[in-house]
Amino acid sequence: MATLLREQVTDIHHWTDRLFSFKTTRNPGFRFENGHFTMIGLEREGKPLLRAYSMASANYEDKLEFFSIKVADGPLTSHLQNIRVGDELLVNSKSTGTLVMDNLLPGGTLYLLATGTGLAPFMSIIKDPEIYERFDRVVLAHGCRHASELAYRDAITQDLPAHEYLGDDISNKLFYYPTVTREPFIHNGRLTDLLANGTMPADLGLAPIDPQRDRFMICGSPAMLKDMTRLLNERGFNESRHGKAAHYVIERAFVES
Ligand code: A2P
Repeated sequence: MATLLREQVTDIHHWTDRLFSFKTTRNPGFRFENGHFTMIGLEREGKPLLRAYSMASANYEDKLEFFSIKVADGPLTSHLQNIRVGDELLVNSKSTGTLVMDNLLPGGTLYLLATGTGLAPFMSIIKDPEIYERFDRVVLAHGCRHASELAYRDAITQDLPAHEYLGDDISNKLFYYPTVTREPFIHNGRLTDLLANGTMPADLGLAPIDPQRDRFMICGSPAMLKDMTRLLNERGFNESRHGKAAHYVIERAFVES
């Protein structure tokens, strides 16, 4: 049965005036699969106010980590953005989600495609050693409007490759592909366009996407999911449904308020 766990905030990092991350203690009884989400929030006027958030931490880590937008008049995030170390965070003990590797058929390249806070579940998945056993390579593509919104960039490009246990796999098999749409950057354009016109695979030295070999996990805004789903379906990829393994899985980047 699901219960509401009371955790303590231990770390807070503000990336921009619209984005922040925070860590909390973790009840050892709280189990999840990398890529899962749960309901988290604050007590407001004596009642829990909860929203769905993906865990950005891996399931073997001592702390829980979350990545959030800040919405000035958002019922939850207008308060959540002001949390301090030591404050209490409510965490539902039951996690769930479709972005799990068992929902994908075996393949060569796994593309993890995120816009905005849709990056969160992939921060958990890229820290899972099993993902590097199942796939020859993992592409982590993050699309944002501005370069300042490319959260976790240093963790991905510097900290994780130096990680004691994961470092070799990450250095050899993880390909990070940040792209920005509203200012000049190393890569420019929407993830959908960069895949459709072959730019992203070509930049990474990979062949154009192919259902025989490539698998996808996608997390972003409803518009991005709609366009990406159409693009993949048109190219012969099938979405996993009802737990049946297929070529791709999708999940919304939940935090909107
Ligand atoms: P764009 O600047 O062209 O709208 P947002 O902050 O609005 O969620 O956007 C995050 C990133 O996702 C932006 O780079 C944005 O590009 C991009 N984006 C928005 N809609 C789509 C879509 N339908 N397909 C792919 N990328 C999208």
